[in-house]
Amino acid sequence: MKVLGIETSCDDTSVALYDSEKGVAENLVSSQVDLHDHFGGVVPELASRAHLVNLLPLVDMLLERQKLQLKDLDAVAVTAGPGLIGALLVGLSTGKSLAMAADLPLVGVHHIEGHILANALTAELVLPAMVLVASGGHTELIHMPEVGRYERLGGTLDDAAGEAFDKTAKLLGLPYPGGPQIDRLAKQGTPGVFSFPRPLRKDPRPVFSFSGLKTAVRTVVDGLPRPLADQTVADVCYEVQEAIVDSLCEKLFAAARKKHVGAVYLAGGVAANGRLRDRVAAEASKRNLHFLAPERVYCTDNAAMIAYAGYCHLEAGRTDSLDLDSFPRGPVASWR
Ligand SMILES: Nc1ncnc2c1ncn2[C@@H]1O[C@H](COP(=O)(O)OP(=O)(O)OP(=O)(O)O)[C@@H](O)[C@H]1O
Ligand SMILES: [Mg+2]
Repeated sequence: MKVLGIETSCDDTSVALYDSEKGVAENLVSSQVDLHDHFGGVVPELASRAHLVNLLPLVDMLLERQKLQLKDLDAVAVTAGPGLIGALLVGLSTGKSLAMAADLPLVGVHHIEGHILANALTAELVLPAMVLVASGGHTELIHMPEVGRYERLGGTLDDAAGEAFDKTAKLLGLPYPGGPQIDRLAKQGTPGVFSFPRPLRKDPRPVFSFSGLKTAVRTVVDGLPRPLADQTVADVCYEVQEAIVDSLCEKLFAAARKKHVGAVYLAGGVAANGRLRDRVAAEASKRNLHFLAPERVYCTDNAAMIAYAGYCHLEAGRTDSLDLDSFPRGPVASWR
């Protein structure tokens, strides 16, 4: 089965082809980072317009590279939400048009389910699992007994982990998105030079809080001599990353213990973070838990994860009508 995937929920335009015999045959991503960089964050209207310009040429490029025509596909899977509503509408109306034109089934995919199932693109899933979804807009703990069943245990009370990376990077004068910058610079940082809080550490609930971290970093950075020395920036990056990774790790393993799962997964853009991957892998091994994280290209937004999630829906007999609506927010839901 060949499923075309379309992802336009935020600032990446992506199309992919998932082939049930070969895996991911193609995953094309057109990033809008340069477009939004100047504004220090994603501008929704600009994102929608850029998707409109880029999406169909990307579909054409995919079909050409794969030597396929629309009629050779078996289905179209598209992100229906959550995300920026204008951006989602561009992807969804394009997906519907292609499905209608070629008389193909349409499958709407929840973006967060896509992030979770990205783990299955390069490894066998071990279930039940506790999944830490950490991205630009989400930080959640999701219990997953099987594909298609998701139980949200809790999440952040304020900022998402990705936002914490991006906002603190901005305070340090680093470009957007800040996560990859902090990941890189923290490697040169010296432990113990700075100290930042780990909020809600003693709180037994599966909840996170990252907004106080930004204030703590601002207070420290405002008191530093200008221009900021490269080593000082690296030292701050090191400690910010440790604070975020400590919070994520502790809550993930507490939730895994509570639900008696045999596996822990990472998902979402922050799952690309080297320190987080290393820490969770080491802690999982100590506890005899199976550990999975998507390959780095499949951590941040991509259509391969959407095409694969769509394939899982199709295998379970789930498709959507052309009345399908996009939605700006809403928790990942079980299929049955
Ligand atoms: N190596 C990294 N270390 C830490 N954070 C990272 C890394 N790579 C990417 N990120 C962060 O991941 C986030 C982007 O992830 P993703 O593309 O899934 O977000 P999104 O789609 O905007 O949000 P959501 O999935 O919640 O809708 C950004 O905040 C970015 O800084
Ligand atoms: Mg995402």
